[in-house]
Parts: sequence; C-alpha cells; structure tokens
Amino acid sequence: MSLSIRKLSPALGAEIFDIDLSQPLSDITASAIEKAWYEHSILLFRNQHLSDAELVAFSKHFGELDAPPIGTSNRYWVEGFPEVLVVSNVIENGVPIGNLGAKEVTWHSDMSYEEVPPIGSILYALEVPPVGGSTEFVNMYAALEHLPSELRRKVEHLSIKHDGSVNAAGDLRLGKQPVTDVVTCPGPIHPIVRTHPKTGRQALYIGRRPNAYVCGLPVPESEEIVNELWSRAIHPDWTWRLDWQVGDIVFWDNRCTMHRRDPFDPNSRRVMHRTQLKEKLPQPPIELTPDRVLESQAV
Ligand SMILES: [Fe+2]
Repeated sequence: MSLSIRKLSPALGAEIFDIDLSQPLSDITASAIEKAWYEHSILLFRNQHLSDAELVAFSKHFGELDAPPIGTSNRYWVEGFPEVLVVSNVIENGVPIGNLGAKEVTWHSDMSYEEVPPIGSILYALEVPPVGGSTEFVNMYAALEHLPSELRRKVEHLSIKHDGSVNAAGDLRLGKQPVTDVVTCPGPIHPIVRTHPKTGRQALYIGRRPNAYVCGLPVPESEEIVNELWSRAIHPDWTWRLDWQVGDIVFWDNRCTMHRRDPFDPNSRRVMHRTQLKEKLPQPPIELTPDRVLESQAV
C-alpha cells in the first residue's frame, strides 16, 4: 500500500493526499498511515469532513483513546463523546465550550504531567480564525541531536518532574493549587532523554517549562539545566508552522515533538476537536500455575 504523501518541511511533518478519513480504513491503509507517522512524526490531512463518531473511529485505528485533560472547567468534551476534547475560545450562553481560549499556548508535549502521557494527539479543525491561531511544531529528535555533547552527557541519566497545575495557556486547572515549591509539589517524573519504542530513536523530553524541576538537584542548579535545555530545544531549523484551514486533521506524536499556538483575536471563532491515544503498556507475562494449565487445556 503506498500513500500519496509529501514532506511538509525539512524538519518534520508530511501531508497525505487522496484519502477520506470519514470512511472506514482498511488494515493495510491504517498501517501505512502509522508507518508514515513514525517516519515523519506529524501527519496532515486536508479537506476532511468528519462527524465526532468518525473522528473517534479514525483515531481508534491507532490505539485505545485516552481521556481528555482537566481544563479550567469540568466540561470541555463533546456530548456523547467523552474522549473528544473541545479546544475553543467560543463562549455560548456565558459558558466557554472549550479549552485554552484565544491566548498564546506555550510549547509543550500533551499531558506530560500524567504518569503515562498519551502517545499521540489528533486535532480536527472545524472553525479557524482569519488571522492567528497557527500551531508550530518542533522535532525533539533533532533537539536532542543538536545538544552540545557535554550537556547531553549531563542530562542523559537525569529526570524532570512535570507540573500540571496550569495549562499551556497559563491558567490554573480545576482543583489544582498554585505551585510554591518545585521540589515538593506533586508531578510525574520522566527521563529527559527517552527512546521512542517504535522508531528506536532517542528524543529530548522536557514537556513544559513552568515549575519543571530536575530531580535530586538543588533548585538553582535545576533551573540552570532546564533553562539551557529550553534555550536550545526550539530552533527554526527543526520547527514547522501550520496555518490551519477548516477540515485539517493533524496527527502528531507526543513522544518526539512539542507544539505551541499563536494567540488570535478573541472575537473570532476557533473550534477544534481532539482525541488522544493512550500508551499501550507492556503486560507482565502470565504465570502458568497448574490451575491455568488445566484451564487452557480445557479450551
Ligand atoms: Fe497541546
């Protein structure tokens, strides 16, 4: 199965043409898309027309779906589709219909503040503003490859604690407290250098800047390392910007990319629906007890 595909930039990303994602995909087509996803880290499909059920069905070709993140309110998902997050600035009857408003959204990897963050996200543009709201992506394989060797050696066996008290627009999430001490605040700990389980390539994983803490170090030393990593991670040579069109679907890999969004006029409308793919954890081997052996022989 060969897809009609072209690279979007030297850095990362590819567009796939001549495919209608509202239709069920064959296993062969789904696996060709997955292979292209591993190769390019981000895939763009234009001119799509999907219902939420079809968005969910397309997403499920690539794994089980994860729950949406906690927003600043407790209802940012689509009625009847609790796995579909609404990303929007639109306010209806005084209530925001979605997450993240119209402000800038700073660089992050989706839900890195979870113990097991989603491996990928699929974002579908239903309404886009005439100006602004573009999304930039950065290749974190390249970010790691371009670290000075001394810094890379220093961080190779270090981990960062990721904070989820605020979202990437800087707003406090529902039920969270502002962080006063990065050493004691809660948050999952992820290695700074991670190996992508499918491509076998190493990538820099820094998640999000606010309240990041390199575990085990005094705070000033941690701040120095985190600041240096952030100052080097984002570079025009390995970033790519998407100016959204209605009907765009973008499928990105959270393990080897980060993204940010430009602000836009809050009086214009931007409505996106997103799904996120759960990491499939390896199952421990089943221990064969005499009972289990008998059970399996009976089947
Ligand atoms: Fe995001």
